[in-house]
Amino acid sequence: MNLTINTLLDRIGELPPMQEAAQKALIMIRHPDTNMRALAEVLSTDQILASLVLRWANSAYYGLSAPVKTVQQAVVVLGKNTIQSLLFAATLANLLNRPAPGYALDRGALWKHSIGVAAGARLIAARYNPALMEEAYHAGLLCDVGKLALEFYLRDVQFDREKIKNMSFIEIETGLLGMDHAVIGKELAHRWNLPVSLQNAIAFHHRPSQAGDAFILASAVHLADAATMLLGIGIGSDGLQYPLDEAALVRLNWSEDSFTELFEKIPAAVSAAVDLIGMMK
Ligand SMILES: [Fe+2]
Repeated sequence: MNLTINTLLDRIGELPPMQEAAQKALIMIRHPDTNMRALAEVLSTDQILASLVLRWANSAYYGLSAPVKTVQQAVVVLGKNTIQSLLFAATLANLLNRPAPGYALDRGALWKHSIGVAAGARLIAARYNPALMEEAYHAGLLCDVGKLALEFYLRDVQFDREKIKNMSFIEIETGLLGMDHAVIGKELAHRWNLPVSLQNAIAFHHRPSQAGDAFILASAVHLADAATMLLGIGIGSDGLQYPLDEAALVRLNWSEDSFTELFEKIPAAVSAAVDLIGMMK
């Protein structure tokens, strides 16, 4: 198949862009001296985002005795990091909730998988570099978004079972389409003006030992991805072969036991995210 990166990026161009208010708010949050009042004003311009922030601040999780009635109060209760993660999850929910028949992923499967990877990546980052926890969460959410562009071209492919039996899905994508979903995901992150470290974490989430400065971030996504696959959450035709990056495991001093915490906590995070989608309807 003769696909160019531009053909695939045009396909991404057809995906819904991040809401303007969410994009503005994310830029503000990344600025070190963000004015919380201004942030609340931006969020208030979008009805869905405003109600999401309000409902989240009033959720049982925060257990506040008095109800939070304004977006201003909600912003203070939640804090910048939580709002950032919430904006990402909310923005990506509709996008990632789509079915991806080219990967045999039903509606909701890619979303559940992504939220599992995000939650797992945050846990791993907490162990190696807590300053990267939020960014790891975002990288986990976005790592497989490129599949939505590629899946269209994989729908009608008849796989030669014998030929592909020892290949990873990344090798199959590259063999058929000339690039893999990690490259496309990185390009999308670039278009969304996300930080370069996040772009690289997405680009290298299947081979983190080559991620350079983004090694911890890419490793967090890689291992969380493997754990979510092993848990069987949101896997399609690509869930059969997931080679681990041995060089990264050695560098991180990662053992089989290290997966235990992920296996325990990821399913609960996925259930909470399913509730989040329910909140947005
Ligand atoms: Fe992936």
